[in-house]
Amino acid sequence: MKIIHLTVNGKPTEVAIDERESLADTLRKRLGLTSVKKGCEVGECGACTVLVDGKSIDSCIYLTLWAESKSILTVEGITGPNGELSPVQQAFVEEAAVQCGFCTPGLIMTAVELVGTGKRYTREELRKLISGHLCRCTGYQNIINAVERVVNETHKAIGK
Ligand code: FES
Ligand code: FES
Repeated sequence: MKIIHLTVNGKPTEVAIDERESLADTLRKRLGLTSVKKGCEVGECGACTVLVDGKSIDSCIYLTLWAESKSILTVEGITGPNGELSPVQQAFVEEAAVQCGFCTPGLIMTAVELVGTGKRYTREELRKLISGHLCRCTGYQNIINAVERVVNETHKAIGK
């Protein structure tokens, strides 16, 4: 076991890990952050996406060791102090972009990253930017609608 130090959703965190452990497993099993989903565990589906120092990564193929001194953001870290939904989450609700919800946390974190860039994107660009996420339920149209709306309307970083 090894002790590592990182910031998780704004909180300085110290956690004992197995050196071969993925960040997805650390977040889910040791820190209870179950918004992080494990679909494929080989970096193909995007369900495990979290932000590391503001950049989206597949946490199933990212060793927790690499996160030493870094800042991690998950869906649990983007809601308001009383559980209010963030603008990205609100857009997913309003555009009916969620069915079973398994892909949703990963997509939300990628959308948070895109909003944080402060740039505008075309629908086609957004399709490419979220193409690392697989959704078996929705047909993607409502997801693209939600991401397009929040990315192009919000234009500011989201998160605590
Ligand atoms: S579970 Fe990580 S990319 Fe599929
Ligand atoms: S909503 Fe079910 S996998 Fe996307």
